[in-house]
Amino acid sequence: MKFLITGGAGFIGKWVVEKLPSDAEIVIVDSLDAQVHGSSIDFEPELKSRAKCIKADIQNIELYTDLIEGTDVVIHLASQTGTGQSMYEMSRYIQQNVNGTAKLLELVSKLKRKPHRMILSSSRAVYGDGAYTDGQKILYSCKRRLEDLQNGVWEVCNDQNNILKSLPMHEDHLTNPTSVYGLTKLWQEQLMQNYCESQSIDLVSLRFQNVYGPKQELSNPYTGIIGIFTNAIAQGNSLELFEDGLVTRDFVFVGDVADAVVECALYQAPLSSTINVGMGQAVTLIDVVETISEIVGKPANYTISGRFRVGDVRHAIADMSHYEALLGSWSPTSLKDGLVQYLEWYLDQKPVSHETLQASFQEMERTGLLLSKQG
Ligand code: UD1
Repeated sequence: MKFLITGGAGFIGKWVVEKLPSDAEIVIVDSLDAQVHGSSIDFEPELKSRAKCIKADIQNIELYTDLIEGTDVVIHLASQTGTGQSMYEMSRYIQQNVNGTAKLLELVSKLKRKPHRMILSSSRAVYGDGAYTDGQKILYSCKRRLEDLQNGVWEVCNDQNNILKSLPMHEDHLTNPTSVYGLTKLWQEQLMQNYCESQSIDLVSLRFQNVYGPKQELSNPYTGIIGIFTNAIAQGNSLELFEDGLVTRDFVFVGDVADAVVECALYQAPLSSTINVGMGQAVTLIDVVETISEIVGKPANYTISGRFRVGDVRHAIADMSHYEALLGSWSPTSLKDGLVQYLEWYLDQKPVSHETLQASFQEMERTGLLLSKQG
């Protein structure tokens, strides 16, 4: 089988390439974006030995039609992924994520033989704050008000200021992104659905929760908190937990995510669906820091700052029942086991300077997206 992987040199892409069958023909299109890949101007030797690697912005993908002709499955991973950054670099996110997807579909429309399946790396960011309940009914659009956040009211409340209970995100829940990044992910899903339906191509949109693990680019300050926190703890630097440290996220190990992608790519019967991919457990920021500190074997020097990122959601956890109903049982790697593997890898990497992270915070402050609780 022949696979096209956009963003194949990225964090998840490298894992997918490794897990595809050894006789698979693979074409990777990746821009080697400097924010992710630093100063590297070429693909890593392991990728080059396994795949035909094309260095190109996805928006120029049509230039490579000949190399892509005959693809059976497209795995579309190329995306800008920083939730906070998307709130002030809107046009770049829209260009890369939305226009990039449109260009990919235009290319597919020109192929003599169409792929039978496309797989999209979507995100739980499409749910936004997700669904809540007051104990009786499901409630949507329960956005946190800016004035509440400024007063340190972190949980989602109803109009009577009663705290509502967050529900695990289910694929049937309404989508309502709270960040530009989330919007671009939803548009990617919709664009692909629209096209794939018209061509009878299978579409699998995988809504990833917070993916972490070895090979997650450390020098990118927009890469997620597991890297940020591990780096700070290992180097004895201070770190900051936003809000009251009780934000929850569902951290899913990259090996499990790659398994899910490959499972869908190789699935023998027709498969068109939107599917969550998470560990299925919610963990607070404080718990993450404590667990990393235990594994690194050094104390975590953290403050719970009361600052908050505009557009952040309070709670996120995947309901994995749809995955299990479609694809069988889901036995994800525990956070502890995943972090042990992560640390092993981390210790072989060059340490990242604290300044890179501070600069990203300053950028968010300047643009009014990192605010403080008043008083
Ligand atoms: C992440 C991904 C996004 C993905 C989504 C769902 C990143 C940058 N974004 O968004 O691509 O689609 O999950 O899978 O990986 N925080 C701190 N201190 C810090 C930095 C962050 O407390 O120094 C807080 C944030 O405010 C947030 C939480 O940690 O509440 C997680 O942040 P982050 O790792 O940036 O990821 P998400 O925004 O959840």
